[in-house]
Amino acid sequence: MRVTVVDDEKFAIAAADALMARLPAGAPRLGVATGGTPMRLYAELGRRSRGGEIDLSDATLVALDEYVGLDVDDRHSYAAYVRVRIADPLGVPPANILVPQGSREDPEAAAAEFEAVVAGLGVDVQIAGIGSNGHLAFNEPGSPLDSMTRVVGLSEQTRRDNARFFGGRIEAVPRYAITQGLGTICRARSVLLLAAGPAKADALAAALSGPVAADVPASVLQRHPDVTVIADPAAWCKMAS
Ligand code: F6R
Repeated sequence: MRVTVVDDEKFAIAAADALMARLPAGAPRLGVATGGTPMRLYAELGRRSRGGEIDLSDATLVALDEYVGLDVDDRHSYAAYVRVRIADPLGVPPANILVPQGSREDPEAAAAEFEAVVAGLGVDVQIAGIGSNGHLAFNEPGSPLDSMTRVVGLSEQTRRDNARFFGGRIEAVPRYAITQGLGTICRARSVLLLAAGPAKADALAAALSGPVAADVPASVLQRHPDVTVIADPAAWCKMAS
């Protein structure tokens, strides 16, 4: 496991450098997390793309998860996040964006189909964040370490954490999501885990230095052979002690 602890102003640069170092040339398959932490990485990639330093327009973007019940055009959907924050700035065409279809009448079927697509494609580098409860994608505590893409219930903690994206209203945060499983995520050739802020300190320490166990889903990354962690000092502080 490679670890870089960097201050806020260098976080995006360190994350983008780490990503580009692991990403194969050509038409890479890039697994993308949503949420707050990777936003500055995506902004940095957009800046490099506009400046001609990188060209990811042939990439295929594979999302980790999607809320059940939100349409792709809903601005809160992860489909919209991937389109607006990642694909558009990088010039990735809509045909190269893969997000679980949370608005399908049968989300279980959508999850199974997504699992098959991701398995067939193979992800080169998976960008991931960590929840304050140790979740990885929307695999909440208790998720089997070998789980596959499926419909899951979101914990109160996760809905509270994500209420900030829904105008602060927890009741507006969907109760269910389709998420890649822990087993699905671990098939990626490389994982880039980003963690920032004091709210992640306990979860990060438990995930990286505690036992590998279902109650800390991100701990499964200890079993992955190629993980890069970019953390800020606040997220890393419990590791150092
Ligand atoms: C997002 C995802 C989540 C987030 C995690 C951290 O696609 O799967 O696991 O990575 O909740 O979110 P932020 O970065 O908003 O703290």
